Amino acid sequence: MTDSVERMWARLNGLGYGADYNPEQWPASTWAEDMKLMRDAGVNIVSLGIFGWAQIEKRPGEYDFGWLDEIMDQLHEAGVSVCLATATASPPPWLARLHPETLPVTKEGTRLWPGSRQHFCPSSDRYRQAAGNLVRRLAQRYGTHPALALWHIGNEYGCHVSACYCDASAAAFRRWLRDRYGDLDALNGAWSTAFWSQRYGDWAEVSPPRIAPTFANPAQQLDFARFSSEELRSCYQTEREILREITPRIPATTNLLSLWKPVDFFAWAPGLDVIAHDSYPDPDDGQTVTAAAFNYDLMRSLGGGRPWMLMEQAPSAVNWRLSNSPKPPGVMRLWSCQAVAHGADAVMFFQWRASAGGAEKFHSALVPHGGTATRTWREVSEFGRELTGLAGVRGSTVRAQAAIVLDWPNWWALELESHPSTWVSLVEQVHRHHAPLWRENIAIDVVAPEADLSGYRLVVVPNLYLITDRAAAGLREYVASGGHLVVSFFSGIVDEHDRIRLGGYPAPLRDVLGLRVDEFWPWPPGTTHEARFEDGGAAFGVDLWADAIELEGAAPVAVYTDGPLAGTPAVTRHRFGDGTATYLGTRPDEAGMRRILAAAAADAGAAPVLAGLPDGVEAVRREGPGGSHLFLLNHGAEPVTVTVPDGSALRFGDGVLDGTSLNLPARGVSVVGEAVQVQKSKNQEAM
Ligand code: GAL
Repeated sequence: MTDSVERMWARLNGLGYGADYNPEQWPASTWAEDMKLMRDAGVNIVSLGIFGWAQIEKRPGEYDFGWLDEIMDQLHEAGVSVCLATATASPPPWLARLHPETLPVTKEGTRLWPGSRQHFCPSSDRYRQAAGNLVRRLAQRYGTHPALALWHIGNEYGCHVSACYCDASAAAFRRWLRDRYGDLDALNGAWSTAFWSQRYGDWAEVSPPRIAPTFANPAQQLDFARFSSEELRSCYQTEREILREITPRIPATTNLLSLWKPVDFFAWAPGLDVIAHDSYPDPDDGQTVTAAAFNYDLMRSLGGGRPWMLMEQAPSAVNWRLSNSPKPPGVMRLWSCQAVAHGADAVMFFQWRASAGGAEKFHSALVPHGGTATRTWREVSEFGRELTGLAGVRGSTVRAQAAIVLDWPNWWALELESHPSTWVSLVEQVHRHHAPLWRENIAIDVVAPEADLSGYRLVVVPNLYLITDRAAAGLREYVASGGHLVVSFFSGIVDEHDRIRLGGYPAPLRDVLGLRVDEFWPWPPGTTHEARFEDGGAAFGVDLWADAIELEGAAPVAVYTDGPLAGTPAVTRHRFGDGTATYLGTRPDEAGMRRILAAAAADAGAAPVLAGLPDGVEAVRREGPGGSHLFLLNHGAEPVTVTVPDGSALRFGDGVLDGTSLNLPARGVSVVGEAVQVQKSKNQEAM
C-alpha cells in the first residue's frame, strides 16, 4: 500500500463511516446541525461536492469557493475527513450553451441535453479542458486543507453515458484504431471486412458502430466497447494527473458500479489508489446478497486483496427502481457488515441529508425528511457508533482458495448479436457459477483470464467465449501443474478480434478438456431437459444450451436423459498433466450446479470457511496483523445456531457464544476472533 493511502486510512482511526454530502442543496443554517448530527452518528468521512460544479463556477472562469471553504473548515472542526469531489460529473448549463459540442450523441444521432447529469462527451477537448481547469483550481485551493483525505474523481463513470457517437468521438476512435493497428490492412484483417463488402480503403471511412441496417460488424463493436471504456478512463486519468502534480500526497479514486459492462474494471483498477464501490442491493430480490458478495469479492480482488471502500449504498430505499422498498429493520446493518466481511474498510452511503427537491428527493438518506425522529436515523446513528467496535479488522484481508474468471472484452463479445443464442447473459452466468460456491462458504477471488492462477486450488471459468493466446496458455499451465479448472459451454471460441479459433471448438482448450464440441444446440427460453449423474444417478434439469460433445479423453460426469442429445455427455471431467478439468456443456439447474461445483471444490481441496452452516448463513474470514476475524452473517429470517472453531471469542455483534456454540438472531451478525489461522492458500501450503 502506498504511503498516501496508508495515511488516509490512518487518519480515520478505525473503519470509515459516512456519506455523500451535498451542502450546496441547503442553506448555511443547516450546516451546523449537520456537523452535530455527524458527530452523533460516528461519521468520520464524507464525499463532498460531487455535483457542485455549477455552484463553484457560476460563470466560466468565475469561481465561488466561499461556501466550500466554510464547509471544509466546519467538517475539519467536527473531526470529519473529506473525500473531495472534482465535481466534474455534471457540467453546468453554461458549458452546453457556449459549447454544445461537449454534449454526448447516441448511436442514433440524438444529442443528449443538460437538465439531468453526466451530459458530456468523453472525447470532447472542450469538456476536458473545462473540467481540468476546475480540478486545478480545487487542487490548488484545498490541496493542503487539513480535512482533505482523498480525491473523488468524477462519479460513476459510464453510468448514464458510456459511449458517444459524435464526430469528435469518431475522430478519437480512428486515432485509437491507428494506434492499435498501425495500418488499414491490419484493421481490415482484424475486423474480417472481406465479409459483406466492408473493406476500408481510407481511415476517414471508419466510424463508430452507429445505427445501421442490420448487425454491425462484431469486431468493430468490440473495439468500440474497448475504446469507449478507455476514453472514459482517460477522462479520469487526465484529472488524476493534474491532482498528482499539485497534491502528490493525496490519494485519488472514483466510484465503480456493480459489475458494469461499459467500464473494464480490470483496466481501470491500477489507476485507483483505493478501490471504491457503489452497491445497491435490492431488498425485493431474494438473490441480492449473493450478487453483492460477488461484487465485494470483485472489489477486493481489483485492489489485489487490499481494503476497499463501500463508497455508496442506500440507507434504506432507492428512488430509481419501478417500486422501491425500504430495507427492513436490521438489514442496512447486516448488509454493511457483509461489505466489511468481504474486505471493505469504509461504509458510506448516498446521501447524508435527503434532498427536498430534484429527481432524488424520494431516495433514502441518513437524515430523512422527517429528521432524527425516524427509523432510518435511529439505525444509521446506532450502527455508526457500533462500527467503532470493528476497528480491529482494519487492514486485514480475505484469503481465497478459489477464483472465478471474469473478462470485459469477453463480456462485450459474448453478448453480441447473431450468435447461436442471444439468451446467454454473462452476469447471469457468473452468478450461477458463483452462488453455489458462496452457499458452500468457499472464499472466492475474481480474476482476469490472464492473471497468475497458481495460488488457487480451484478456478471457475464461466463462458469464456473470447480467449487470448495468453489466457489459453495460462489455463493450460494451471491445469498441467495441478489445478482444478471448471469451464462452461461456449468457451474458447474466438480470438480477441472475435474471429473463430478454427480446428474444432474449443480449439485452444480441446486437449485440456479432453473433448471436441461438434455442434451447439441452444434451447429457447422455457425449454428444459434433463441430465443424470453417472455415479449414482441423481437427475437435474438443464436449459439454455447444449454442446454436442465428442469425448477425446474426458470421462462423462453427467449424461442427457432426453432431448436431441439424449445419451451423450452433458458434463465431463478430464485429467490433464497433474490437474483436472471439468467441463459443463450445458446450463444445469441450481441443484445440479451446486453438486458439480461442490464436487470440484472438494476434489481441488478448496475448503469452506466454515462447513455445515445452515442455508442463508454466510461465513467470511478476514485475516491480518490484528488476528483472524470470522464474520458470521445470518441473512435468514430465523435465528440459527452455528458451531465456531475452538477457542473463538465474540468480538462484535449480537450473537451469544457458549463454548463453540454461537446463537445468531435473524438478520444478526457476529464477528468472532479466532485463536488460530485456519486456512492456507495453495502457495502457503507448498512452503
Ligand atoms: C448512484 C449515484 C449517486 C446517486 C445514487 C442514488 O448511482 O452515484 O449520485 O444518484 O446512485 O441511488
